[in-house]
Amino acid sequence: MSEAEKQQPGAAAGPADDHERPARQRGKTVHGEPANAGHRVLAPDDAEVEAYLEVALDAAAPTRPHVDVPGGGVPRGEPSGSEPDTVVVLDFGSQFAQLIARRVRELHVYSELLPHDTPYAELERRRPRAIILSGGPNSVYDEGAPKPDAAIWSGRIPVLGICYGAQLMALELGGDVLPAARREYGPATVTITADDRLFAGLDRDQPVWMSHGDSITRLPAGFTATAQTPSTPFAGLADPARGLFGIQFHPEVVHTPHGREVLRNFVLGIAGARPTWTPANFIESTVNEIRSRVDAHARETGGDGKVICALSGGVDSAVAAALVHRAVGDRLTCIYVDHGLMRKKESELLRVTFEQNLGMNLVMVDARERFLARLAGVTDPESKRRIIGDAFIRVFEEEAAKIGRIDFLTQGTLYPDVIESTAPETKAAQKIKTHHNVGGLPDDLRFTLIEPLRYLFKDEVRLVGAELGLPEAMVLRQPFPGPGLAIRIIGEVTAERLDTLREADWIVIDEIKAAGLYRSLWQSFAILTPLRSVGVMGDGRTYANVCAIRAVTSEDGMTADWAKLPYDVLGKISSRIVNEVPGVNRVVYDISSKPPATIEWE
Ligand code: XMP
Repeated sequence: MSEAEKQQPGAAAGPADDHERPARQRGKTVHGEPANAGHRVLAPDDAEVEAYLEVALDAAAPTRPHVDVPGGGVPRGEPSGSEPDTVVVLDFGSQFAQLIARRVRELHVYSELLPHDTPYAELERRRPRAIILSGGPNSVYDEGAPKPDAAIWSGRIPVLGICYGAQLMALELGGDVLPAARREYGPATVTITADDRLFAGLDRDQPVWMSHGDSITRLPAGFTATAQTPSTPFAGLADPARGLFGIQFHPEVVHTPHGREVLRNFVLGIAGARPTWTPANFIESTVNEIRSRVDAHARETGGDGKVICALSGGVDSAVAAALVHRAVGDRLTCIYVDHGLMRKKESELLRVTFEQNLGMNLVMVDARERFLARLAGVTDPESKRRIIGDAFIRVFEEEAAKIGRIDFLTQGTLYPDVIESTAPETKAAQKIKTHHNVGGLPDDLRFTLIEPLRYLFKDEVRLVGAELGLPEAMVLRQPFPGPGLAIRIIGEVTAERLDTLREADWIVIDEIKAAGLYRSLWQSFAILTPLRSVGVMGDGRTYANVCAIRAVTSEDGMTADWAKLPYDVLGKISSRIVNEVPGVNRVVYDISSKPPATIEWE
């Protein structure tokens, strides 16, 4: 199992439907906006984003680098700025399209996901070593069935079609595709019938995952059959002279045990891509790119090229800051707003890591009183969120204003957000603005964004963080909501309740880690309820709060299952909390999945 799968249980599970489903639509954000409007509720451990989005949606677009490939800001020819070999995955709507790109990246080759109808000229501009066509929920005969630019069949760039992609290849080049007499769904065995490079090193019979209603019934001229199943005569097809290959099964899912070898044969063998997409190379080219951008800006404007970054305690902003710091050193100032809603020891870990170990300029703002004062008497969850977002941005701006002129703002935008936000209807999500009603920032100030993680999936961010030497506790942590513990205290947030929850939460994490379960869970935490119940302790009666435990597995936070924690782990958590945390005398375990419940209680 890959690192990615370990961190995201279920990430590579097979389809649970009888035909491939379209990519899942995201739900609503905590503010009721469509979640794909660039809102980073996906793995939301960055408070600053939560706050910025409050003001982001109707602002002018920020300045972004024009060349949208990793290392693309550095002139070609400089050895350290070389761009990685790229494999483009054209997205025909498969729920697995992102997974294909991730699998290719696991082979250390950069892969990006582009819309299925990306013009060939645009593809060529990116100089891909190969193109992979994803599967998709359509039939090739559907009205408006998605098609690629026909120039991709020219043979100039090797193409691998998967499932729907293979059917398109057959149909577009003159073969036939028909509804299969019997749908093939689930595990199957393909028999390799020809000596095809795609299957080099594989046994003749291969367990694979199938999910299709149509089948290829006649090959186009120039193609040979390379694999079959009892019900699919053309489970594999190839025209090696033109570099065109198709497979009816899904190599990207874990249910195709040797799928990785098939992808490796295509990407590294047939396409000859160089496996240079490693955390170390990424760090080197990104650092060079950031440095040359900041230096060029400083030269052009006569400024100092100052950069700021809001640290949230989450892995994204931590890794982004560490990268920028390598590039520009002291010109970076990190701002950490301690809103007092963090978990136990979190702020201290952040200070030790960034200030002491990495030697960064870190402004730690103790805003605990200010947040508590604004939250006093507030019980409505959405009001809590709004107040925290608003207070956060105000404190951040005040601190930023003290730094003087700032040219760049670092953000931890991840690749899945970039893919989503480039859809036309969500372009607005790429906007950000500063909001200068406090702190004296000039009205026309526009930061330029530095988004060093915009090419990375979450699991790659963690690998880069580890390579940069960030502590495990920071790199491997579970997502944590921007509003922090405030939305895990049901009812009013007070200093005393925060202390109680922090202690209980610490015990949950401690025991989950001791049981070796921390990384297999999406989130595990405690909730403090206002409900009080009677208990007995020693000789006396108690009347104290009920604390709830929540632990879930999830792929992306949009749906989740309650975790089947072992009874002895639950038992230990319960007895420790009741014994060690004053004010709690009863512990319950939340066994609701999402939907219909949400992960957080507020
Ligand atoms: P729910 O509770 O909606 O949570 O199932 C899904 C994921 O989002 C996180 N979450 C938030 N993150 N600000 C954030 O930055 C928020 O207001 C917020 N509310 C929920 C939650 O922790 C889970 O990972």
